[in-house]
Amino acid sequence: MSSWDAETYGSRWSEIYDGLPWPGPDQAVDFLAKLAGNGPVLELAIGTGRIAVPLVERGIEVHGIDSSDEMTEKLREKEGGAGIPVTKADISAFKVEQSYSLAFLVLNTVYALQTQEAQLSCFASAAAALEPGGHFVVEAFMPDPTRFRRNSWTQVHDIGLDHVLIEADKHDPSTQQILEQHIHLNQGKVELFPAFLRYVWPSEMDLMARLAGMSLVERFGGWLGEPFNARSGNQVSVYRRDAV
Ligand SMILES: C[S@@+](CC[C@H](N)C(=O)[O-])C[C@H]1O[C@@H](n2cnc3c(N)ncnc32)[C@H](O)[C@@H]1O
Repeated sequence: MSSWDAETYGSRWSEIYDGLPWPGPDQAVDFLAKLAGNGPVLELAIGTGRIAVPLVERGIEVHGIDSSDEMTEKLREKEGGAGIPVTKADISAFKVEQSYSLAFLVLNTVYALQTQEAQLSCFASAAAALEPGGHFVVEAFMPDPTRFRRNSWTQVHDIGLDHVLIEADKHDPSTQQILEQHIHLNQGKVELFPAFLRYVWPSEMDLMARLAGMSLVERFGGWLGEPFNARSGNQVSVYRRDAV
């Protein structure tokens, strides 16, 4: 498909990542803290610590996995981020030394894995990292193929006297892959921020979890515990590792 690999996201986005208008972490942190038990907890694709750092501030021991040195460097620069143990690994296939009460993979990052096989293997790795009864929480947007016309989509996200920010996407419904380019034009300068992804339907995600030895506990429409239904734009799925 492309030369996208596990390190591409970090190398292309790390410089601007913390300046992007992400939702505040408080709701996610409240939700995850309730499931943390005695910890420690494991964040898959920990990034710059948007969620991990406030969790640590609540007294929860957090460990992380990420494939990007650039993202981990940004985490290290933060107060509270320097002490978080981060293992450089691909979340599609990893092994950890200990077991965790909670593992989580948020902000659509399960979709950063480009194939069903890689996603399935990620679920298996996450299940193996959990103690029996431990939870795996996945947050991701709900796929909406209706936004594509002839399998493509463009949108102007921002515009000013000297700049424009355009998103251009290609969709392949047969593979559930979306290739996104976020194009920043600023005076004479052009910068490209790619995000290649494979979305997953909730039913498919539940099957991946079952194959990995986990069961769906509950699915919400957001971090506040909103009901999940046909109008939900987001899903927060809570899986529990089955007893062995
Ligand atoms: C959208 S950021 C999310 C970071 C953080 N979880 C947050 O909520 O802000 C995606 C992160 O996933 C990491 N990542 C992408 N693909 C990965 C892979 N295959 N294995 C490990 N990390 C990966 C990137 O390096 C980046 O830090």
